[in-house]
Amino acid sequence: MTQHRLGIAVIGAGMAGAAHAAAWRAATTVRRPFDHADVRLVAIADLYEPLATQVAGRYGYERVETDWRRLLAADDVHVVSVVVANHLHREIVEELINAGKHVLCEKPLSDSLGDAQVMAEAARSADTVVRIGFTFRRAPGLAALGQLVTDGTLGEVFHLSGRYYADYACSPQAPMTWRFRGAPGSGALADVGSHLLYAAEYLAGPICSVAGAKFRTAITHRPLPVGSTVGHGLTEVSSETEPVTNDDWAGFTAEFAHGAGTLEASRVTPGHPNGLRVEIACRNGSAIWDQETPAEIQLHLPDNRLPRYNGFRTVKLGPGQPYVAEGFPLSAPGIGFGQNDGFVFQARAFLEEVVGLAEQDSWARNASFDEGLRNMEIIEAVTASAAAGGVAVEVN
Ligand SMILES: NC(=O)c1ccc[n+]([C@@H]2O[C@H](COP(=O)([O-])OP(=O)(O)OC[C@H]3O[C@@H](n4cnc5c(N)ncnc54)[C@H](O)[C@@H]3O)[C@@H](O)[C@H]2O)c1
Repeated sequence: MTQHRLGIAVIGAGMAGAAHAAAWRAATTVRRPFDHADVRLVAIADLYEPLATQVAGRYGYERVETDWRRLLAADDVHVVSVVVANHLHREIVEELINAGKHVLCEKPLSDSLGDAQVMAEAARSADTVVRIGFTFRRAPGLAALGQLVTDGTLGEVFHLSGRYYADYACSPQAPMTWRFRGAPGSGALADVGSHLLYAAEYLAGPICSVAGAKFRTAITHRPLPVGSTVGHGLTEVSSETEPVTNDDWAGFTAEFAHGAGTLEASRVTPGHPNGLRVEIACRNGSAIWDQETPAEIQLHLPDNRLPRYNGFRTVKLGPGQPYVAEGFPLSAPGIGFGQNDGFVFQARAFLEEVVGLAEQDSWARNASFDEGLRNMEIIEAVTASAAAGGVAVEVN
């Protein structure tokens, strides 16, 4: 039985904003009927009105705003996704919390540790649900690896190898955008490395220190775009260039409470458009998850019955995995999963928390701003290590 209305708005209609807009639309169609609230798709807010209009029309939102502040006093808006450049997160999130809205903010929390600390404090004292979107925790394969570690099947993680290779900045003609501005560490490390750090701690537990960090900026100047930009897309550029001030590549080692790891984040890896991959070597075996096959894992659990044939096997996850069982109308091994599905599952978990569904009846809660802050603290530690020639830097 419908109890109340929940109006949804998305601020930022770019690459990930469109994913949020689509996800809210589908969020009530997964798991089971969502009869806790009447969910309404209310507004898309973007400075660039044609884009907002396109996204609103495509996903069925009622109206468009070019000034996100108009959402603050809007009685028909209760839940807001913040999906703009990282340096804009703090102001928008703070004002939304003050206005009594539920907030789902994109990762990383901000582009500065100071702002992230203020945001985490605001979230702690909020009366509403305030979460950050580390979408990959919803990928069936990564979720399965987490389960195999925590239930003891794989057991303690001895070491982890993780990398997030992307190729969106390979072309020197890729225009200057907010992604290439900011302090060292706010580049590939914060953009894709934030996901990698979250996945690494999800599997291997808290990172205690980092060392050996190095940053590289492969393409040092980028042309200014002639018009607006969306995500990683190539667009018309001018002959004027601007220096890139942050990292195209970051590499470092990590010490976990139990175990160690090597990690890399890159946006200049030709041939790897979206290559998040983690491999864990554990007390009872090894496992690999790769975002390019997100509903699969590679698993090696030594089997004494066939010692001659021990080795990795590929497991296509089926309805034994909750996101496969409940997330799709067609639910069977090998049906596939995509990153966009992760946004849907994330939105569903957010709605379940907003309507007060008990944690045990809900999909795993989205990450807290304190987890987002911790993620930023690790980024800060890696940056400090790189600035000091790779010295070890502790993470609290
Ligand atoms: N979880 C994921 O997998 C994932 C993927 C991509 C991006 N992201 C995150 O999403 C956020 C946005 O990234 P993106 O790639 O979509 O960026 P984008 O550049 O494609 O889009 C940003 C949009 O914000 C709009 N904008 C700028 N200032 C604004 C303002 N004051 N008010 C309203 N709109 C404004 C721009 O016009 C643009 O359309 C970032 O925090 C990024 O890290 C997350």
